[in-house]
Amino acid sequence: MIEVHGLTRRYAERLAVADVSFQVGAGELLALVGDSGSGKTTTLKMINRLVEPDAGRVTIEGRDVASLDPHVLRRSIGYVFQAIGLFPHMTVAQNLAVPLGLLGWSRERIDARVTELLALVELAPGLATRFPAGLSGGEQQRVGVARALAASPHVMLLDEPFGALDPLTRDRVQRSFDGLRRRLGLAAVFVTHDMAEAVMLADRIGVMRAGRLVQIGTPAELARAPVDDDVARLLDTPRRQARLVAERLGGGT
Ligand SMILES: Nc1ncnc2c1ncn2[C@@H]1O[C@H](COP(=O)(O)OP(=O)(O)O)[C@@H](O)[C@H]1O
Ligand SMILES: [Mg+2]
Repeated sequence: MIEVHGLTRRYAERLAVADVSFQVGAGELLALVGDSGSGKTTTLKMINRLVEPDAGRVTIEGRDVASLDPHVLRRSIGYVFQAIGLFPHMTVAQNLAVPLGLLGWSRERIDARVTELLALVELAPGLATRFPAGLSGGEQQRVGVARALAASPHVMLLDEPFGALDPLTRDRVQRSFDGLRRRLGLAAVFVTHDMAEAVMLADRIGVMRAGRLVQIGTPAELARAPVDDDVARLLDTPRRQARLVAERLGGGT
């Protein structure tokens, strides 16, 4: 459904993304992990043309994104990022209506969809009339997810979407998103630097380093046959942390 082939992007002489290729099928979530500056965000932004590649190609459902109007393309792709980007002077309902208004939907159709979207992300209908400042971080991020889903996209791009949430909220929003994207059969690319999050949410993980995709596979494949010591260490991190946490919590029982 999403096919990325030989994607390359330079900034001055520096290669931000170098010859990256992968495919993400319908209903599949690919997590891109890697150090800060490894090219994850740039890769994501080349899928919805917020950044244009110097070389390579992206197709979505068989169509080359370069042949589409970037605005039309972006309206067909859900995009969620860490700085949620809700409009502060608009209510939740108005925020959710923005992408639908751009699509020329009628008032009635938008109202019905807003109600549907709030239910989809498990927010109380009463939140519709609140302003973003009156919501918790987790609620705001759910609105961000709902807005990205407003136009029923088949493709979703998420850039460290839950990074700013406190741990309990994060856990809840992660699980709710996991159920949602499976139910909707979305093809999703999810950028995170949190390995535990990647292992929990992803069907496959792509490890990026200095602009290159050094390995891609299921979490179990990467753990079983890492291409090098760095990937091995990366995959072992959540396990090591889980062991340590269990040891400390369980002491003596
Ligand atoms: N607009 C830009 N101008 C110049 N350099 C950029 C720009 N965007 C990204 N880069 C550089 O490209 C590299 C990859 O960045 P990025 O894709 O944001 O990495 P990540 O999301 O993995 O942290 C970094 O070296 C970054 O400094
Ligand atoms: Mg980034």
